[in-house]
Amino acid sequence: MNFRIAPSILAADFTKLGEEVRAVTDGGADAIHIDVMDGHFVPNLTFGAPIVAAIRRVTRLPLDVHLMIEQPERYLDVFVEAGADMLTVHVEASPHLHRTVQRIHDLGVRAGVALNPHTPYELIREILPEVERVLVMTVNPGFGGQRLIVHTLRKVAQVRAAIDALAQPIELGVDGGVDLSTIGELARSGADVFVAGGAVFGATEGAAAAIAALRVAAAQGYQAM
Ligand code: DX5
Ligand code: ZN
Repeated sequence: MNFRIAPSILAADFTKLGEEVRAVTDGGADAIHIDVMDGHFVPNLTFGAPIVAAIRRVTRLPLDVHLMIEQPERYLDVFVEAGADMLTVHVEASPHLHRTVQRIHDLGVRAGVALNPHTPYELIREILPEVERVLVMTVNPGFGGQRLIVHTLRKVAQVRAAIDALAQPIELGVDGGVDLSTIGELARSGADVFVAGGAVFGATEGAAAAIAALRVAAAQGYQAM
């Protein structure tokens, strides 16, 4: 199993964003996770395409843009132009999800669909074969540094079973409350992409050591199955 660690820059020190992105790039991260919030879909505001473009200039890693915004279809083009490699939209924010996913692909990037903690996995059944990633929110989106909601692990396992039944290489990401104490169980439940904010950027031992430790803990949790 190939476990991927995607540091969320929401937890980075914005006064030195370039340095922070370089540190996780050099530290072995597999992607940069960029949390875009609109103050409507979630009760917080973060940043838009200019920040994606700035990050694009300092790393070659894939940029995973997590759109926690209403009507995400209005902004797909600008995020791709800014340098996104993957756009993840929320099932709850996209009544025409199939069209939105098609549009993301037409723009030449990978598509992900995210599920809030209360959203049943059945809602992605029809779209699953069309996407490259499912992102199970393991906290209510809007803020970093929250504690993982344990019952979401059951949904991770349900999505894993659905992906395995399809036999397509669809990634299963988890986002929120991922740290050394939770990543093993998340891996055991079937996740293979781990978004981590505080556990990487807040680590006293530095980003590289934190990423390495998370990877080891994921593998150990998985092997303990
Ligand atoms: C939450 C965001 C997450 C967040 C994770 O709405 O989607 O990506 O940054 O932060 P941690 O890892 O600190 O829980
Ligand atoms: Zn996120």
